Amino acid sequence: MKSTIKIFVFLFIVVFAGTVKSGELPPLIPAPASIRMGTGTFKISSDVVIVVPKGDRDLQENALLLTGQLLASTGFRLKIVNSTASAKKAIRLLINKTPNNTTGDEGYFLEVKPSGVKILANHPAGLFYGTQTLIQLIPPGRQPELIKTPKEIPALSITDYPRFEWRGLMLDVSRHFFGKEFIKKYIDQMVKYKFNVFHWHLSDDPGWRIEIKKYPQLTRVGAWRVPRTGKWGTYEGPEPGEAATDGGYYTQADIREIVKYASDRYVTIVPEIDIPGHSQAFVASFPAASCTGGQYIVYPGSSTGMGANVLCAGNDDNFKILDDIFGELASLFPGQYIHIGGDEVNKEFWKGCQKCKKRMAAEGLKDEHELQSYFIKRVEKIVESKGKKLIGWDEILEGGLAPNAAVMSWRGTEGGIASAKAGHHVVMSPTQFCYLDYQQTDWSIERTGGGFLRLSDVYKFDPLPEGTDKKYILGGQGNVWTEFISTPARVEYMTWPRALALSEVLWSAGKGRNPDEFIRRTEAHFFRFDAAGVNYSHAIYDPFIIPVKNPAGNLVLTFSTEAKGLDIYYTFDSTLPDRYSARYNNLPVEIPKGASEVKAVTYKDGKPAGRLLLLSINELRQRAL
Ligand code: ACM
Repeated sequence: MKSTIKIFVFLFIVVFAGTVKSGELPPLIPAPASIRMGTGTFKISSDVVIVVPKGDRDLQENALLLTGQLLASTGFRLKIVNSTASAKKAIRLLINKTPNNTTGDEGYFLEVKPSGVKILANHPAGLFYGTQTLIQLIPPGRQPELIKTPKEIPALSITDYPRFEWRGLMLDVSRHFFGKEFIKKYIDQMVKYKFNVFHWHLSDDPGWRIEIKKYPQLTRVGAWRVPRTGKWGTYEGPEPGEAATDGGYYTQADIREIVKYASDRYVTIVPEIDIPGHSQAFVASFPAASCTGGQYIVYPGSSTGMGANVLCAGNDDNFKILDDIFGELASLFPGQYIHIGGDEVNKEFWKGCQKCKKRMAAEGLKDEHELQSYFIKRVEKIVESKGKKLIGWDEILEGGLAPNAAVMSWRGTEGGIASAKAGHHVVMSPTQFCYLDYQQTDWSIERTGGGFLRLSDVYKFDPLPEGTDKKYILGGQGNVWTEFISTPARVEYMTWPRALALSEVLWSAGKGRNPDEFIRRTEAHFFRFDAAGVNYSHAIYDPFIIPVKNPAGNLVLTFSTEAKGLDIYYTFDSTLPDRYSARYNNLPVEIPKGASEVKAVTYKDGKPAGRLLLLSINELRQRAL
């Protein structure tokens, strides 16, 4: 390790361990590998130009994107020029003449001096990430206060590169459909935090979302279901004669447009067609595709699990249809991976199916797990025949993994660890750290997804379990399942700020993380979300109560918030707490006799911050057990 890099690493640990006063460093997310503050500032005003070498289309594109982002964050539309001769104040984008070993394919060096800004990288992707860091140095503001006021950014130098090559977010557009303009906005937001994989969950029981030219019925039938609100418990099935009006799909022209939009921003799209389970929309479009051959409807509720229909593994026509579908997919998506799902296959359908039994006998398969393995291996051959690699959820391990398959480990990290040991590539996406549909606050404040996952929990994620060979761990991914998310604003609310924690886990060094310091930086990004019109959750300000039994056997309550430095007020009578109620003083609170409920609110800097938490004492007693 070169000594300068050692100093940088040291600085990173010291600085982000919080021993240096906060405020000295810009609140960058993800934290860069190394940062050294200089003296003075660089002023961005209308006379600054962006300089890129002539003739390089990727760099021109980078410069163009930068002008757009600078316009949004400064109010100035800067010129792009190819020569520095006339430019006094410039932001220069440069490719290294000899590659820098430290920064690799996606890293960059960023230098801000009072006289100018320079971003250097080995590849255009690195330059792009350098520009995203530059944008974060500009103080956030809203129009119109931005207009015509020069923005000062601090002199500094940053050397930065990612820890993992797969930094993904998955969006389920099947359970609820989100149009292409929102997908672009989502990608815009992802790249600000250096995510580079958009996993697009395009098919599931409640909807098929991609036009397949050879099989128009997949979208004519499969993209539409009867409208029902995503809610807990059971859904109501269709009324007699009720039309399936809820849904939508992307045309192939839409897909091409989005693929190009993503690729201009160094995002690879991994399309997912979820088979052989989660296939009721497919089966509704092709009745012969199921084990029974009956006529099914697109799953009418958004909340599906193991209950919905699957593809018959004994029907050769299914593999022919899949060959055609994956052929069209391969021609639309330039990335190397196609995701084939493979999760939660309800094997009861196969158990009762003569065709599946015949297949098992013919192929010498001893159980339905081996039948699942047969199915996936056959699909792998199809995917590879189109020049692509197969990735699937960790159930594809059941009955034996396909020879070259990559695995996305969601039921914990065990499947990922086993796959990496066997020499397969792995993306870690375990529910306990990565499921962004899970609720981020106490369910009594808001019930969203099934599980519970706070920002600080996401930040504890390490995609590289001890003893696992990093060579096989491509990286990690956050997943946004949309059973209970029906609007773009809700998708954003569930994604942010928790995806900030993932961004840092996936990009920044694995050591030296300080959760409180990270949450302080997160709060600085709330202003950026506001300025960009992006919804996000303030759950870090919500009160949180942990009931415990004290040594005397009485129930006592401790109150907390994820963000530090808030004041928490509570009541045990029926009144709404405010800043004149009892204030929590960090000592366990005894429950007064006769109290049936507790209410709590939080204040930050004297202003109401979190939402009201109301819990019955009975509920707290249950939780303390
Ligand atoms: C999954 O959550 N069923 C992959």
